[in-house]
Amino acid sequence: MSRRPTIVAGNWKMHKTLPEGEAFLQAFLPRLASRKGTGCQVVLAPNFTLLAAMRDPCRAAGVGLAAQNCHPEARGAFTGEVAVGMLAAAGATHVLVGHSERRHLFHEDDDFLRRKVQAVLAGGLTPIFCVGETLEERTAGQATAVVGRQLRAGLRDVASPAGIIIAYEPVWAIGTGKTATTADAQQMHAFIRQILGELLPAGGAGMPVLYGGSVKPGNAAELLAAPEVDGVLVGGASLEPEDFLQIVAAGDRAAAQV
Ligand code: PGA
Repeated sequence: MSRRPTIVAGNWKMHKTLPEGEAFLQAFLPRLASRKGTGCQVVLAPNFTLLAAMRDPCRAAGVGLAAQNCHPEARGAFTGEVAVGMLAAAGATHVLVGHSERRHLFHEDDDFLRRKVQAVLAGGLTPIFCVGETLEERTAGQATAVVGRQLRAGLRDVASPAGIIIAYEPVWAIGTGKTATTADAQQMHAFIRQILGELLPAGGAGMPVLYGGSVKPGNAAELLAAPEVDGVLVGGASLEPEDFLQIVAAGDRAAAQV
């Protein structure tokens, strides 16, 4: 039996203006408050412009607030970038690092992402470190080699596993409507846990590993039932309060089983 927390995180990507984000919270938070039990941990990742406005309502509701990106340096001449200290002051509790859209569309490499993980930890926030293979890599039989490389590189300088979340998101499943089968997810999560054990003998076993990629109300429960899947990172289906609430309910049921 795992004592890892069950986490349901929503990644809003480049969606929602400030009024749209506030409207989401008005619909979402009262329903979230009315659910029963200790439940799963809920995290929302809006764009930077919503963080400060979402801080107080999310904090009051016990909802984590994730930034979608950061720069590894604390300050300086990096036009358009945001430092971890700035995110923390705006209310962020978590930071997504290495989302596949950052890796592939913005060409962020393993070493840059390792520095981001270090910066987030140094700033006292929780990195949600994302890994995952492309379709070409999977078809070529390279999926575990790629995910293993991403983990070893990104976590190389991590001394303690405390306060780190991993998200496995196969790139071919993101925004495509194709989900990894539960068996595929289970297999890769078991591999990730093995790598974490090698990298972090002191306690990689306690690190939550989330699955992401076309998670919807209709498939969340099955994915969350896999023993090695500790939660989900949800893109498109986190944009509508009703859809996301259904996934949170699936997370609550999974949390109750742990
Ligand atoms: P999706 O996105 O749920 O829309 O596939 C997941 C993600 O990119 O985190």
